[in-house]
Amino acid sequence: MAMHNDNALKIGVFGANCSSGRSATKVPERWSASWPDCLRLARMADEAGIDFMLPIARWKGYGGETDFHGATLETKTWAAGLLAATSRITVFGTVHVPLFHPLIAAKECVTADHIGEGRFALNLVAGWNEGEFEMFGVEQRDHQARYAYAQEWIDVVKRAWSEGEFDFDGQFLKLKGVRAEPKPFGGTRPLIMNAGSSKTGTAFALRNCDAFFTATAGSRTSLEGNARKVEEIKGEARRLGREIEVYTVGQVICRPSQQEAEAYYRHAMIENADWGAIDGMLALRSISPQTVSADDYEAKRQYFAANAIGGYPFVGTPDKVADELANVGRAGVRGVAVSFVNYLDELPYFCAEVLPRLAKIGLRNRSIAKA
Ligand SMILES: Cc1cc2nc3c(=O)[nH]c(=O)nc-3n(C[C@H](O)[C@H](O)[C@H](O)COP(=O)(O)O)c2cc1C
Repeated sequence: MAMHNDNALKIGVFGANCSSGRSATKVPERWSASWPDCLRLARMADEAGIDFMLPIARWKGYGGETDFHGATLETKTWAAGLLAATSRITVFGTVHVPLFHPLIAAKECVTADHIGEGRFALNLVAGWNEGEFEMFGVEQRDHQARYAYAQEWIDVVKRAWSEGEFDFDGQFLKLKGVRAEPKPFGGTRPLIMNAGSSKTGTAFALRNCDAFFTATAGSRTSLEGNARKVEEIKGEARRLGREIEVYTVGQVICRPSQQEAEAYYRHAMIENADWGAIDGMLALRSISPQTVSADDYEAKRQYFAANAIGGYPFVGTPDKVADELANVGRAGVRGVAVSFVNYLDELPYFCAEVLPRLAKIGLRNRSIAKA
């Protein structure tokens, strides 16, 4: 569960399997998410001591001039390929629970876990994007039932990973004579995360997962606020007799001077925002000029563009970015999954300048600034 190292603050790369990553921008250097680029990125991240890669399971683009997330690599097969090409980094695969039979998913995860010798991890998504589900001809269950189904699904997967032959007689899943070999690599099981933001989603994560990702525990400004949120989540898990780690997400724009970093942030994220894609994402959440006031709508659009579709922008010099990440770590957050406008162009500077600063203050042990 420690991702095979003892870094106190884990750093991951988020969203690299999707075109444009997590930046709804029209700048020409935006991320391609092509396989050669993903492969180079994974090798670079692996060598530099980055702890994990977290993809996004997305099946359909959001539209706009760039068709944001219009091209995506499927996450479990992506993870399998990257695990074969790396030696230290943990790679997540993400499953939309209603779209995959649990026994197929369980075996896919085990296969990737063997390829990576225990470095595969699993992100569970109960589902929220109606348009995508329509594309599969799958109807979304109501929110409660979605998580009730996810509960049976993960129960089956965990049993398939650990037990001999069994039957399963649930409300949704009725399975006879289940056998699943081999088990995950080395007598352990893949780390499981969830990022549900609702009360039901959070409760699901606390009951079943090792890591809970939340976009709201990473505020750069409020150490106390973050610490409270982390303690609240960990405390609730403890009441259930479980230990859970809290992670958050962010966007990094790190440059030698503050002015340069802020100028690029404005240029890429605001002045060249793909507003059509942002409108598409808001529409999926039923936020449109028809449902909210014109002022509220504009505020939401600006928020989505400025916050890399959910996640704090760490914008500045290596000192500033390291300091802000350190504050998130000091609040008890176990790790941060970060994205870049162009991962390959920007990761080397981040690894060379920010990781050693985090190592210096004891938040990371290993800092190989070779990228
Ligand atoms: C770090 C992070 C990763 C996520 N990854 C995905 C993903 O890959 N695919 C997806 O459809 N939703 C993803 N989500 C959305 C959540 O899984 C969840 O569906 C959403 O927050 C709604 O929460 P709820 O199910 O509790 O209502 C992610 C959210 C976060 C914060």
